[in-house]
Amino acid sequence: KVEKPDEFIDEEGKRVDGRDLNELRPVKIEANVLNRADGSCYIELGDNKIYAAVYGPREVHPRHLQEPDRAIVRYKYSMAPFSVSDRKRPGPGRRSKEISKVSEEALESAIFLEKYPKSVIDVFVEIVESAAGTRTTSLTAASVACADAGIPMRDLIASCASGKIDEEIVLDLNEPEDNHGDADVPVAMMPRTEDITLLQMDGDLTAEEIDEAIDLAKEGCKQLYEEQKNALKSKYGGK
Ligand code: CDP
Repeated sequence: KVEKPDEFIDEEGKRVDGRDLNELRPVKIEANVLNRADGSCYIELGDNKIYAAVYGPREVHPRHLQEPDRAIVRYKYSMAPFSVSDRKRPGPGRRSKEISKVSEEALESAIFLEKYPKSVIDVFVEIVESAAGTRTTSLTAASVACADAGIPMRDLIASCASGKIDEEIVLDLNEPEDNHGDADVPVAMMPRTEDITLLQMDGDLTAEEIDEAIDLAKEGCKQLYEEQKNALKSKYGGK
């Protein structure tokens, strides 16, 4: 774990990495970065470095998993052993399984699954460098990868977290803030309608603080949405 700073917010209202309370970390998104995948995306958010790869829609194996009237989505979140400060044991643990499950549900609500009966859309995310906010940043990348694969969607899924440090609700916790802060609220949404497809909370917040945290995370999602669209536009042009 990284060290706990003496104070999270200085007299000027700046955070340990110099950000304002409502500011995202620097973000970079690139679509179509992997040749073997049907769709892919690379994202950096602060020190996070994440690849998403999408395969499909394709026939489901094993066949008993087929749904007669729609596609299924399989989402696999995986943290490389070298992606964290202590080595992470390879393979899926409880944390990865939980993240995969909630992310799968968050992503599939944006996809027109009924267009692909008996099919599967496989989504793999690989965290190569991890610095807090990986579940949300992965979802942001995964939905760009789905769009890159040409999968018809209601909207992209944009996702980021807000949280609480030094009694303040702030956007996009970095590692010290995530490790030593008071709460973390990951949110994913379809920005056009503002439908929320993932909402989690780790820590203690009052009802008012939860509302404030969700509103702030939604603003972050809207900013990421612009970057997602720019990444797709710069590959494929269009409006
Ligand atoms: O990454 P996210 O914020 O979605 O999930 P988390 O469970 O709140 O983890 C926060 C951060 O702790 C991760 O992004 C990693 O940087 C770190 N972590 C770690 O160092 N080792 C693990 N086995 C799991 C998480």
